[in-house]
Amino acid sequence: METLRRGTPAGWKFNPLELDKLFNNPGQLLSETRDRVGDPFTVWSPGQSITLTGTPAGARAIFSANPKTFSAFGNGVLSPFLGDASLIVLSGDRHKEERRLLMPPLHGDRMRIYGAIIQDAARTHLSRITNGAAFSALTLAQDVTLDIIIRAVFGVDDAHQVAEVRDAITAKLEASTPWLMFFPALRRPMLGIGPWDHFLKADANARRLLHRTIEAKRTSTTRGADILSLLLDARYEDGSPMPDDDIVDELITLLFAGHETTAITLAWAMYWLHAKPELLERLNAELAAAGASASTDEIAKLPFLSALVDETLRIHPIVPLVPRILEQDFELGGWLLPNGSAIGVSVMLLHQNPVIYPNPTEFSPERFLGKTFSPFEYAPFGGGARRCIGAAFALYEAKLVLAEWLRTGTYSLLDTARPLLERRNITLAPRGGVPLRRVTTSK
Ligand code: HEM
Repeated sequence: METLRRGTPAGWKFNPLELDKLFNNPGQLLSETRDRVGDPFTVWSPGQSITLTGTPAGARAIFSANPKTFSAFGNGVLSPFLGDASLIVLSGDRHKEERRLLMPPLHGDRMRIYGAIIQDAARTHLSRITNGAAFSALTLAQDVTLDIIIRAVFGVDDAHQVAEVRDAITAKLEASTPWLMFFPALRRPMLGIGPWDHFLKADANARRLLHRTIEAKRTSTTRGADILSLLLDARYEDGSPMPDDDIVDELITLLFAGHETTAITLAWAMYWLHAKPELLERLNAELAAAGASASTDEIAKLPFLSALVDETLRIHPIVPLVPRILEQDFELGGWLLPNGSAIGVSVMLLHQNPVIYPNPTEFSPERFLGKTFSPFEYAPFGGGARRCIGAAFALYEAKLVLAEWLRTGTYSLLDTARPLLERRNITLAPRGGVPLRRVTTSK
């Protein structure tokens, strides 16, 4: 019988010369480390070390453990940006209760309600791009997904109101730089003009606007099918409503977690469709066969479109690492890791396992056709008690926006080289945003 080793396995020690690699090319750094010392391994950086696994057995151990084994990793990193009541930073019973209130509006059954919003936002933004125009797929996708999440969350159709929320949230997001997030020492006032001062101003402004929106919704006589209406009527087990400050934290969380992730997925999907024209041809044929009158549900179920989105999230896990903090000693891959350590699943390594995914660096949607991977083999949305609550929404949205994108025009890549990665807060995006040119305005 294998004996357990107590402590923390070897791994990568912080080296300022490799900071760019850690931030922008973690896949290479992690696979080199794993190849050198085995799995699990530890990444030590100033202020935080984390033990990682990228095997299905490791993912199973973490995702199927009792939720009480862990607390949220995000506290220090994310709570100043999302708020102390954000689902992402809550732990234990409080996390469970909050999830119970937040899950219903994002349940798979409700997706049909958001279908029209998704298609309308995609059409509006796509119609602004003229024939011959060059544009960033990522910027366009971000405009679309931000509008969609704002309209799904608040139920506002008024263009002025959507623009007001969009500007406030964009300013807050842009002020939440990875440097402020990962280096708390930089969170200091500097004569009112430093990055932290800038963030605090943008944060206060966004929160003021959200409080005003909540108040307006509460006093209005009609409640809609939007997420905010459902949260205002939601009740904890003791019958109490969510306090407004907590609702604001959750709204910020949904806006933050719920748009850039999907936008990055869309930008990568557009890259691969145009880098491999045979995929584009196959998808166009599937969409043409479905017909212009296909319902949003029918589009979301198209097999090749679904496989393409699944493969995009396999090869580019937007959140490359799913972390937890141990609340007790924990067994992982022959180690007994001490209570209090940070551990995580490296989704990047998991998705590059050649035993599960032959030729793992090749973009090949076919691997998802007629095949389902286990939640310990494929985990773009994390797993266990903290699995992404927006997964159904994100997949539905990505498929409908892609279908609209391809139906309303033809495009070509301005640069066919595969984009490098770039870190944006906790996500990784294609550097340069996938520049495209619109070739024709409609087909
Ligand atoms: C392609 C798009 C998306 C990806 C790749 C993604 C990925 C993830 C991942 C990896 C996690 C961490 C899961 C874990 O710790 O096990 C997460 C959590 C979360 N996501 Fe997403 N997400 C996406 C879209 C969305 C959307 C559209 C929403 C909301 C509408 C959303 C809301 C959240 C929330 C609230 C959490 C925290 C869950 C918790 O801690 O209980 N995400 N997401």
